[in-house]
Amino acid sequence: MTKDPLFSQDIYTEPSDVDVNTLTNLGPLRFMAGRWKGALGIDINPKEQGPERQAYLDYVDLQPIDPQTNGPQLLYGLRYHQHIVKPGEVETYHDQVGYWLWEPATETIIQTLAIPRGQVAMAVGKATPDAREFELTAQRGDTTYGICSNPFLEKFFRTDKWTIKVKIHDAKRWSYRQETTLIIEGNKEPFLHIDESVLEKIAEPNPNPLAEHK
Ligand code: HEM
Repeated sequence: MTKDPLFSQDIYTEPSDVDVNTLTNLGPLRFMAGRWKGALGIDINPKEQGPERQAYLDYVDLQPIDPQTNGPQLLYGLRYHQHIVKPGEVETYHDQVGYWLWEPATETIIQTLAIPRGQVAMAVGKATPDAREFELTAQRGDTTYGICSNPFLEKFFRTDKWTIKVKIHDAKRWSYRQETTLIIEGNKEPFLHIDESVLEKIAEPNPNPLAEHK
């Protein structure tokens, strides 16, 4: 595992030799860039009468952004929008936006999530640049990475943990399985809200703005 060089240097100086082509600097995230469709999604979600199992169609758009720096910290990433519907329906079943980020210096992957239930989260995991499988976790209560919900969700459907496992099958296919641990008011046991899907590529990504205008 690479050591974290950020905590031993001047916090204002940005790296000077940044390669602006994000698509060739995404480490294990490089295979996820582009537009994807999944027809095999399965969701286990909480209902009053118990867990509900629902098939879903997944549309995920992941596009490279320009390299980002926080002083010496350098991150490459993809901005994403995930839109989910039930088969044969138009109405949104689940919507999610955020970033997948790769920090080459520390071999760290970050996923940020915002969902229109009034909830945000940031998960983290480690992987080598050539990894084909990786796992990220966010834990409620952590102040670096973590989970933050609106007061209704916090009281009645508290999210304690969120993990996502990604598997890259080949250049045209990847899959995920995520587990969200909900503490639901009135239930003795935690509820495991599970979502999994296999995504097939439908379009290549566009280059990030700086790479396009270089
Ligand atoms: C493919 C991904 C996902 C799908 C399709 C999905 C779908 C759903 C559905 C259908 C419900 C029940 C809605 C209702 O009856 O009102 C639900 C509840 C919930 N989901 Fe998800 N979800 C996904 C991922 C996530 C993630 C990643 C999180 C958080 C990290 C999350 C947090 C919640 C919470 C807190 C609830 C309880 C609120 C409620 O039932 O009203 N979900 N989800």
